Amino acid sequence: MVPAAGRGERLGPGAPKALRELGGVPLLVHAVRALARSRAIGLVVVAAPPDGVAEVVALLGSHGLDGKDVRVVAGGATRQESVRLGLAAIPEEVEAVLVHDAARPLVPVEVVDAVAAAVRAGADAVVPAVPLADTVKRVEPQEPGVPEPVLETPDRSALRAVQTPQGFRRSVLHEVHEKAVAEESAGGLPPVTDDAGLVERFGGRVVVVPGHEEAFKVTRPLDLVLAEAVLARRRA
Ligand code: CTP
Ligand code: MG
Repeated sequence: MVPAAGRGERLGPGAPKALRELGGVPLLVHAVRALARSRAIGLVVVAAPPDGVAEVVALLGSHGLDGKDVRVVAGGATRQESVRLGLAAIPEEVEAVLVHDAARPLVPVEVVDAVAAAVRAGADAVVPAVPLADTVKRVEPQEPGVPEPVLETPDRSALRAVQTPQGFRRSVLHEVHEKAVAEESAGGLPPVTDDAGLVERFGGRVVVVPGHEEAFKVTRPLDLVLAEAVLARRRA
């Protein structure tokens, strides 16, 4: 399932991020094709911007997707809600679900295959991740313009930057999303930024497999510059 309903505020003004183009093709189409390239994938469900469902249906219909079944639903106000709405469109008998950001258009098929294989091998939740290049510090956040005191420097060798697709046993993903909705309506915790985070919150076990530097997320304008360069290199 592909959450694609975000506005892309950090990318700047323009169309919703999933519909912005990379090499003349929308990010969403790249992301769906990247999944469809894997033999492990049978069905792709897209959570589209709520006011862009018809546009996304037309877009995906007009691009070749290796004969894979594609469904489009309206996404929600948060990524978490978009994933929950997308999950509802996946048939009960499906046992494994991969959740992949539309904003990661260049994920190599090897990563998709590795995540799917780890779920098939019995893991409840699998995330692809890469080691960090930068040292990371935890700070005491301040108002803009005020220097932030450092609280600690975690051991970088034990940190990972997490990517998508994240893979799940369908029943596990469904259960944690239902629990999250119940908790939120009880005035509970804020939405998480990835699905594995929900599994962790409710005590499940999540494992990491190797990600890939080309599975980076297009978040800010510079990421789009890098993505264009990677695509140009692939096409060369
Ligand atoms: N997403 C979604 N529904 C939302 C918010 C985000 O389906 N309500 C999706 C985005 O479309 C994206 C993925 O979640 O594919 C990762 O989110 P992010 O990179 O944060 O994208 P945006 O939320 O669109 O960007 P920003 O936070 O800069 O506005
Ligand atoms: Mg966002």
